[in-house]
Amino acid sequence: MSDSTKNSSTKAQQAEKPWNGRFTEPTDAFVEAFTASVTFDQRMYQQDIAGSVAHAKMLTHVGVLTQSECDQIIDGLGQIKQKIETGEFNWSIKLEDVHMNIEAALTDLIGITGKKLHTGRSRNDQVATDIRLYLRDEVDQVLSELKRLQNALINLAENEAETIMPGFTHLQTAQPVTFGHHMLAWFENLERDRSRFIDCRKRVNVMPLGAAALAGTTYPIDRNFTARELGFEGVCENSLDAVSDRDFAIELTANAALLMTHLSRFSEELVLWASAQFNFVELSDSFCTGSSIMPQKKNPDVPELVRGKTGRVNGHLISLLTLMKGQPLAYNKDNQEDKEPLFDTIDTIKGSLKVYADMMQHVSVNKEAMREAAIRGFSTATDLADYLVRAGVPFRDAHEVVGKAVRLGVESKRDLAELSLQELQQFSDQIKADVFSVLTLEGSVAARNHLGGTAPEQVRAAVKRARLKVAD
Ligand code: ARG
Repeated sequence: MSDSTKNSSTKAQQAEKPWNGRFTEPTDAFVEAFTASVTFDQRMYQQDIAGSVAHAKMLTHVGVLTQSECDQIIDGLGQIKQKIETGEFNWSIKLEDVHMNIEAALTDLIGITGKKLHTGRSRNDQVATDIRLYLRDEVDQVLSELKRLQNALINLAENEAETIMPGFTHLQTAQPVTFGHHMLAWFENLERDRSRFIDCRKRVNVMPLGAAALAGTTYPIDRNFTARELGFEGVCENSLDAVSDRDFAIELTANAALLMTHLSRFSEELVLWASAQFNFVELSDSFCTGSSIMPQKKNPDVPELVRGKTGRVNGHLISLLTLMKGQPLAYNKDNQEDKEPLFDTIDTIKGSLKVYADMMQHVSVNKEAMREAAIRGFSTATDLADYLVRAGVPFRDAHEVVGKAVRLGVESKRDLAELSLQELQQFSDQIKADVFSVLTLEGSVAARNHLGGTAPEQVRAAVKRARLKVAD
């Protein structure tokens, strides 16, 4: 190949690239693939197109584009969107990312006017805008899945307001609680998650567009116009910050990591509870799998997998923090690395919430087994101590009396309520016949009748308040 032919083929190859003007040599093929993001950022095509439509309208509003140019651009982008959605769009690695692929397709479609769309903007403010639009939509879906799960827990709490289970500390039976109360504890965790996502949405929903590459633009743009078009609550105040800030992505991933931590802890309980040893709950067959070798097995795969997926989201949080820690202002190509962890975080939490919301609607509760476990675990021992304290026994002495009664129960394989009055009285003469009312599980939970307590009455009141919280 002569030098001149080599040169001309080089030029033709390069011609596609919008930034090729200052280049004389083609991009190395491996570098082209290495630096491209289109394989993953194409998922933001809707946001990219919405951003371009709003930008074109703004440029027309301020007189940089004519109405007819604007119409052509919007029409062309509409056709491209359709092509993407019907699978006819040809994504090219040579065109690096979603932004340049769509812009090049627009120019192919409508000619020279397509090239005017990029006036007064840069891919730096464009990509930051796309991610924020994308995350805003996703946060809304996360919020609605969160609510769906919360509603499932409220329903369970309402149905099981009187169902007694052992409450644990150190995974040792501690005191009886109601299953409804336990479900509402997880509701509270999720309610905090929801409030964190709502709060972070405010900082997601701010518009970088107009910052251009980093310093703003010389065109008479109207950023508030574009922001209104796109439903942003405000515009980023500083152009350097606008293109370089990814705090919103880190925040969102931190919220996701905490959400997954909650689901992971809940999963651990479900795995234990679904075991033959606990047998507190049964998960529906449609959320479990069997073993190919052990016919008796029904494995709680869904909670196990959610517990496992927590690791990747924690990892993404560390990835994003590390991605940002060494970057000087303003935009750096490093930022392209924000997308995969973010996308996977979103997919993971949406999937986990969805499967959890569905699964929790089909949990059956084994009241008998829970009751049996609460009895076996001497869970009303504290109630006996409190009874003695009410009769004037100092708490430390009461503790010792109850300890002895528990030892007798362990030795004779009986619950405290199954010991006779005489047997109990050998440990303290303050014990009277009315002691049996505090030794029952029902008496124990009903006595914790204050705001935040486990009494069925309190659970019903908490259910009402919970319903109001998720009502909007
Ligand atoms: N694909 C790039 C990213 O995800 C878009 C912005 C590129 N800007 C640039 N000047 N190379 O961050």
